[in-house]
Amino acid sequence: MVSDSNVNSLPRHIAIIMDGNGRWARSRMLPRPVGHREGVKSVRRVVEACINKGVRALTLFAFSSENWRRPTDEVSLIMGLFVHTLKKEVGALDRNGVKLRFIGDRAAFPANLQTLINESEAQTRANTRLDLVIAANYGGQWDITRAFKSLAGRIQSGELHSEDITTDIIADEMSISDLPLPDLFIRTGGEQRISNFLLWQLAYTELYFTEVLWPAFDERQLDEALLWYANRQRRFGRTGDQVEQLKGA
Ligand code: IPE
Ligand code: IPE
Ligand code: MG
Repeated sequence: MVSDSNVNSLPRHIAIIMDGNGRWARSRMLPRPVGHREGVKSVRRVVEACINKGVRALTLFAFSSENWRRPTDEVSLIMGLFVHTLKKEVGALDRNGVKLRFIGDRAAFPANLQTLINESEAQTRANTRLDLVIAANYGGQWDITRAFKSLAGRIQSGELHSEDITTDIIADEMSISDLPLPDLFIRTGGEQRISNFLLWQLAYTELYFTEVLWPAFDERQLDEALLWYANRQRRFGRTGDQVEQLKGA
């Protein structure tokens, strides 16, 4: 039994690896692209649910820096789906107060997709209801490498001294450093790995894995993950007793 004082409120920031589109399609004897298209519907459902529940930030892993290794036609299909979905959804996201942002190396994307990404970020920049972050051509190691490069540049220019580097200074160089760190990580599709997602930012995130394939993930599934999260005791290195005392104080 979990005592009331143990119950976490809603996560401020949820980060999701949306995995299992291909297997969802295959289990229905359908081609993989159908799974990706159904996966977009899950994105819509989860974004809406997060808005309604008052979650402040949602980061979705849509395409990893390793996903270029997939067959060319699957990669092209996913790029096409990004373009189609952005064109179709940005208006509604904007009206619903969603601030859209992409993390990852966008320079590798087709020019029309880069333009759409830039435009959608500009259009939704002033919104404050939900920060929706799409990780596309993203890798946690890429993020850390980028931070290293930036720090090296600052040292070279004399703005920063190597002795002055702190964890906070590194953290500020990472993607989405302006958002609260993810409280809850969800990976659908049954694998229990991070697959080069947010490596730095997940240091103290609660990790939730479910067998449910991404196209089958809906508000009920999200509620299950939220209930699981609510019953975790977040200790951040302290003892359980200390955490209880702090909550009671
Ligand atoms: C996740 O589903 C979507 C992307 C990586 C773009 P998958 O396509 O990885 O689906 P499975 O893992 O093959 O079932
Ligand atoms: C992780 O899924 C990346 C995304 C969901 C975008 P993958 O299906 O590519 O992960 P691995 O390669 O099986 O670990
Ligand atoms: Mg997969």
